[in-house]
Amino acid sequence: MTEFTALSRRGALRLGAAVLTIAAAPKVWAQAAAPAAPTGPFSLPKRSYEANALEPHIDAQTMDIHYNRHHAAYVAALNNAAKDNGVIAKASLADLLADLGQLPDNLRTVVRNNGGGHANHSMFWEVMGPGAGGAPGGDLAAAITRDLGGFDKFKADFEAAGLRVFGSGWVFVTVDRGGRLAVLPRPNQDSPLMEKQLVLFGNDVWEHAYYLKYQNRRADYLKSWWNVVDWSKIGARYAAAKAGTLAI
Ligand SMILES: [Fe+2]
Repeated sequence: MTEFTALSRRGALRLGAAVLTIAAAPKVWAQAAAPAAPTGPFSLPKRSYEANALEPHIDAQTMDIHYNRHHAAYVAALNNAAKDNGVIAKASLADLLADLGQLPDNLRTVVRNNGGGHANHSMFWEVMGPGAGGAPGGDLAAAITRDLGGFDKFKADFEAAGLRVFGSGWVFVTVDRGGRLAVLPRPNQDSPLMEKQLVLFGNDVWEHAYYLKYQNRRADYLKSWWNVVDWSKIGARYAAAKAGTLAI
């Protein structure tokens, strides 16, 4: 059993216990529920750069709408669900996503869509930055060569996977505790976290991420996105994954 699997199982146990507690005492949880959105257990993460910092590759208006409306809507929906369902407020986001099957039917889709959206976008803002681009270094570069056929082949495969997403979704790079990498596209706001995998980084290929500047030219967006990828941040996530401290 990997440590991550063990962690996830512990999360499942905590989540399962919380579900049982709520089922047994709904009035107590209702009294303890968080107030209506936007306040609640979930919040928009602070970005370390301004909305216009990724120009010309991602325009300021797209960044503003994407962060303040799309991502904020996922956070508000999660907080709204948490008002009446203490299980959402009690568990970590990573545990919620890893153990969606433990949730009651009426919460599962809400958490899948909005919890997935919150986790995916929180990662997305983190791995981008101004003055970024270039290439990874150190053991991350070595892992890309070992597992993904080298940096140029990896970028081509990642872009192709992003292009093949039909409709809305994401293209991710997953990492396991041994540092092994894989490219993994997923639809909608689904995340590899829902399959008990860790996300090293990923790109948002929903039209809201690029349509104002690139219209239907998703391929151009995918290619341009490398200019804003902050490999130092991704290198830190890679180290955290191997150390067992990477959450979302
Ligand atoms: Fe998005």
